[in-house]
Amino acid sequence: MTDAKQRAAAAALAHVSAGTVIGVGTGSTVAHFIDALPAARIAGAVASSEQTAARLRARGIAVLDLNATGTLPLYVDGADACDPRRRLVKGGGAALTREKIVAAASERFVCIVDPSKRVERLGRSPLPVEVIPMARELVARTIARMTGGTPVWREDVVTDNGGWILDVHGLVIDEPEALESAIDQIAGVVSVGLFARRPADVVIVGDDPPWSW
Ligand code: 5RP
Repeated sequence: MTDAKQRAAAAALAHVSAGTVIGVGTGSTVAHFIDALPAARIAGAVASSEQTAARLRARGIAVLDLNATGTLPLYVDGADACDPRRRLVKGGGAALTREKIVAAASERFVCIVDPSKRVERLGRSPLPVEVIPMARELVARTIARMTGGTPVWREDVVTDNGGWILDVHGLVIDEPEALESAIDQIAGVVSVGLFARRPADVVIVGDDPPWSW
């Protein structure tokens, strides 16, 4: 799978313009993108996680504060699952909240995935939800009642925002936009890893050769 991730990451470089500030996501596919990024001569990057910020800095790329950059021309990130309409499940790396913020601040979202991430319908991979710690059980009960899914607390993880993660298993997601909105409304939810209302604009699959839609 490393080769597929590398191919998708390399293909994303074609979307990067020299001298721009871009958003950079989190995960093993994005790590390959960051490693290749110095050649693109960007002016700087907004990072979706502390892990990404450290890797960018280690490659000599300036990490900028989103409050100081305004709208970004491009956001590049991976996904845990992607459907034919480019709607995504994200958050396997627990960075979903900042990923959603940087995606919302970007004109174009290019998603880079290995072939295993393509699905006909979202729900096969667990759906991450970041919660305020004191609301963990309240949110878990509400999601279980609302969806029939099984929320499991990712006990060893605290997010960059001090939040906790629930992974919701066993979902059949027929209406991703509606589910995203419904989970967002629950008191104590920071964000949900469904990227349906703002899907990717382009998905690059790291087959040999890579292709996109
Ligand atoms: C992190 C994410 C990642 O983009 C997603 O988990 C994919 O990771 P990888 O590229 O390692 O397969 O959403 O929160």
